Amino acid sequence: MAKNLLSINDLTKKDILDLIAFSNNFIDEDGNFRKEDLFPDKIVANVFCEPSTRTKMSFAVAAGNLGCNVLDFDVDTSSVQKGESIFETIDALNLMGVDLCVLRHPESVIRDLAEHLPKMVFINAGEGSISHPTQALLDMKTIIDHKSDLDGLKIVIVGDLDHSRVTSSFVEGVSNFDIDSLVFCGHPEMCQKYQNTDFGIYEPDIDKALKDADVIMTLRIQYERFEKDLNLDLDSYKSAYQLSSEKLGYAKGDAIIMHPGPVNYVEITESVYDSENSVIRQQIANGVAVRMAVLSRFLSS
Ligand code: CP
Repeated sequence: MAKNLLSINDLTKKDILDLIAFSNNFIDEDGNFRKEDLFPDKIVANVFCEPSTRTKMSFAVAAGNLGCNVLDFDVDTSSVQKGESIFETIDALNLMGVDLCVLRHPESVIRDLAEHLPKMVFINAGEGSISHPTQALLDMKTIIDHKSDLDGLKIVIVGDLDHSRVTSSFVEGVSNFDIDSLVFCGHPEMCQKYQNTDFGIYEPDIDKALKDADVIMTLRIQYERFEKDLNLDLDSYKSAYQLSSEKLGYAKGDAIIMHPGPVNYVEITESVYDSENSVIRQQIANGVAVRMAVLSRFLSS
């Protein structure tokens, strides 16, 4: 396995399946996370230069469960506010003896950092709209938990795909498997990268897109990454793309509904979020188990 987890493409299909299987060991029969004092001499720094709840907190919980010392780097009170670059910042952590850096950053800086600081291990926790590998791992684990395999599934991704690092890493991850079909659906201005690909089909009509779906992944509109104002009418948007109980009726009866969060009920109704098809809250819990597996593997390598 590579020394750092910068992209899902750093993992083979076997690595992906091994990490998912390994993550299952960290959940006991009652659904609680095991606490193992495996790495009491390791220091993990959580460096998040963009907002996060799930990823940042689940890495902190995962590292704590493994007995690591966890540093919660607060960018707002750091010397980044005095003009220090991310390179000098992470080098300072490296010189203090931090073993592993979990980094979320709006720009593609993680590869340069990993190259220039070879003693540190880097785990990508979100890189602009480019990649979010641990999210893809927890998404694939959640699907396997419910469908036992990724092979043969019809997977539909609905929403703002162009700005979604969740989509790009997920697409890279599932390319290792023999899925039946990958369907992209959403406002044409938010799916420009996905209208002509050789790995999936773009279908702007959500009723057609959802027909016989096994897995439906919904995504929020990432206003913070828009370069121009789309002048969206939210009511029209919801009418066309919001996953409602009525639209869900086009999918298979046992379809699972996913969302990486944060959820704000534009892309999905509250009743669908709360429905028995929804596995969104399981995705959050799986994030801890998967990150325990990732930290264990990469701290051991
Ligand atoms: N899924 C995800 O990355 O959520 P956060 O932004 O809350 O970490």
